[in-house]
Amino acid sequence: MILDIGDLRELARRRIPRAIFDYAAGGAYEERTLLRNSADLDAMTFRQRVMVDVSNVSLETTLVGIPVSMPLAIGPTGLAGLFHADGEILAAKAAAACGIPYCMSTMSICSIEDVRAATGKPFWFQQYLMKDRGFNRELIERAAAAQCSALMLTLDLQVLGERRRDPRNGLTVPPRLTLRNAWDVATKPAWAFKVLFGKRRTFGNLAGRIGDSSGIRTLSEWTATQFDPSANWRDVEWVRSRWPGKLILKGVLDTEDARLGLAAGADAIVVSNHGGRQLDGAPSSISVLAEIVAAVDGRCEVFFDGGIRSGQDIAKALALGARGALIGRSFLYALAAAGEAGVAKAVEIMRNELRVTLALTGTSSVAAAGPHMLRL
Ligand SMILES: Cc1cc2nc3c(=O)[nH]c(=O)nc-3n(C[C@H](O)[C@H](O)[C@H](O)COP(=O)(O)O)c2cc1C
Repeated sequence: MILDIGDLRELARRRIPRAIFDYAAGGAYEERTLLRNSADLDAMTFRQRVMVDVSNVSLETTLVGIPVSMPLAIGPTGLAGLFHADGEILAAKAAAACGIPYCMSTMSICSIEDVRAATGKPFWFQQYLMKDRGFNRELIERAAAAQCSALMLTLDLQVLGERRRDPRNGLTVPPRLTLRNAWDVATKPAWAFKVLFGKRRTFGNLAGRIGDSSGIRTLSEWTATQFDPSANWRDVEWVRSRWPGKLILKGVLDTEDARLGLAAGADAIVVSNHGGRQLDGAPSSISVLAEIVAAVDGRCEVFFDGGIRSGQDIAKALALGARGALIGRSFLYALAAAGEAGVAKAVEIMRNELRVTLALTGTSSVAAAGPHMLRL
């Protein structure tokens, strides 16, 4: 029985190899910030209200001007295509059917063109600032050619936080069958058949830039040599000047950076600590959301991610002023558990949880969400 995201997580754990599961589940270093994201959401309590007419709770809204069926988007996650064959294509299809945006990562297994060809629907595209600005320019042009409806620039990965589970598990891209993982892989035959021996197994967007035989060690080296540690706000302005559509800046955790992002021309910012995968010891995203919303003061949209595992979590972010929430792990678990249907199920679960939560806090629409929903 699949009743919550935890059920999908458990199913994922049984269906994919440990190295892939842990790549999603883990965080950087001691995983303190990863834990904080969930702990701080869990610690919040709602203010229950009764006898308010909530017969028609509306979840519809817009994100960067795009109408959505609920205030949720699938956030960018690298290697989604290793959680399920054609993972990015299935994600884009599920998101389109559910009426929410899908943001594809540069570090995807399927390429931008694969997803566009398979879905024919607009999606968002995420990129990092590379030392080779020519590659950034090329990715922007490819995203424009694929008619992506927004560009998301991730700011919090100039250098890579160490995720220790990956080297411990011997994670490689493409995945390899080794003596060490043979039993684990043998107990996941469907995954092995479709992904390990499947068609798309390495970074689709980086074809020609990273050798097909490169392992994740090479990837972290590639990241270290290609991602630009000298990137600064002028570079963000450069991206802004090249991308005519909506620009979303992801990875803001400080009010000063929110103001600078606004000045650089952001249409939206994502309050995010990269799901606890970068600066270990950084605050939880939810603990800084309200101050960033106040600093931005309505001049751009504020999205939120980090620890969203239910519709109740989305409601908490909305109550503190987020326009919408992004999911990372909740999406990957659902994808690994049951592909396109799994992702649709996760969205449906969260949709129902959000609707009931709004109703029981006496809130008749997403637009009416606010601090009154919480016991502060
Ligand atoms: C496995 C995995 C891969 C990720 N890859 C990317 C990426 O390629 N680009 C990016 O901007 N963020 C990436 N993120 C961060 C997510 O977009 C998001 O900020 C984070 O997962 C939110 O936290 P949550 O997983 O608790 O929902 C990744 C997260 C995970 C778990």
